[in-house]
Amino acid sequence: MTMLFDVHPNPHPRSDAEREAILARPGFGDHFTDHMATATWTASDGWQDSAIVPYGPLAMDPATAVLHYAQEIFEGLKAYRHANDSIWLFRPDRNAARFAASAHRLALPELPAEDFVGSLEALVTTDQKWVAKGGEDSLYLRPFMFASEAFLGVRPSRRATYCVIASPAGPYFSSGVKPVNIWLSTTYVRAAPGGTGAAKCGGNYAASLIAQAEAAEHGCEQVLFADAVEHKWLEELGGMNVYLITTDGELITPELNGSILEGVTRDAILTLAAEFGLTPVERRIEIAELLEGIASGSVSEVFACGTAAVITPIGSLKTAEGQHPVGSGEAGETTTAIRARLLDVQYGRAEDVHGWMSKV
Ligand code: COI
Repeated sequence: MTMLFDVHPNPHPRSDAEREAILARPGFGDHFTDHMATATWTASDGWQDSAIVPYGPLAMDPATAVLHYAQEIFEGLKAYRHANDSIWLFRPDRNAARFAASAHRLALPELPAEDFVGSLEALVTTDQKWVAKGGEDSLYLRPFMFASEAFLGVRPSRRATYCVIASPAGPYFSSGVKPVNIWLSTTYVRAAPGGTGAAKCGGNYAASLIAQAEAAEHGCEQVLFADAVEHKWLEELGGMNVYLITTDGELITPELNGSILEGVTRDAILTLAAEFGLTPVERRIEIAELLEGIASGSVSEVFACGTAAVITPIGSLKTAEGQHPVGSGEAGETTTAIRARLLDVQYGRAEDVHGWMSKV
């Protein structure tokens, strides 16, 4: 049976002035709306207690399983306000499917897609004033689920908590859409075959943080990981997928191999390629091939993509040997055009020919 998310209104919502001040400078992930969606699952009774409740702390027993064994998954997607004030989600069915796949990998219960989407719609409807008007800001939605049984044995939790929080979002990188620099990590890997790389679980991100810190020490905004076996194939960045554009018209991204996250934006870009006369290619890419391509000019543009990053141009790749600027180091023409196209669809300025948008 589909879950109902009844609203228990926050008795102390932020004032209009406070909300407007936040929406004027949202940043990324710094502020949260007045409500959140929650539901709990137990092995004996299944899903229950679904509701929209005031945003606030979650009380936790110190023995709660997630705090010890990291049995946790999450998603990220955005709500966009169109010019006629209607509010839309971008491909929430894809996030629902990936959430279920991540749950399976982390031995958590699978939330039915209609309940996943229902929770997002209920929260966005309740907190609709938090969806920015005009411009290119949005409301970032963060569904997550964690093992909430208080128990120290190592086995799948018999209790899980599902939650969705919402955060007004501007650009993910403080530089906006200016090209970012990427550090190629040779010390650390993100995910190995048979591991959790294809799942969106907190542990993957925890494992990437030291490499991300190493990137920052080298003046880079993101880290690029190679594969865990041969350390020579391109996988993905700390929190986003990667694409290259070649002068012979290919739009190439590393193929899904079980250790790469199947990004929703990554998939949309493969579909959009044809509109730009590009051939979408998913294949293994050797780091050496990328560096040679950048040096010779046959790789003309490189960009990162993800819900948070949208499409962010990569200005240079830095390795222990030195800096490798991509083209002029500025945002590439095609990267900029694909980004504009994607945003036009998301904000309702272009026809949604692929049926990606879902009205709240
Ligand atoms: C997203 O793009 O939604 C992510 O989950 C990535 C994270 C770095 C914010």
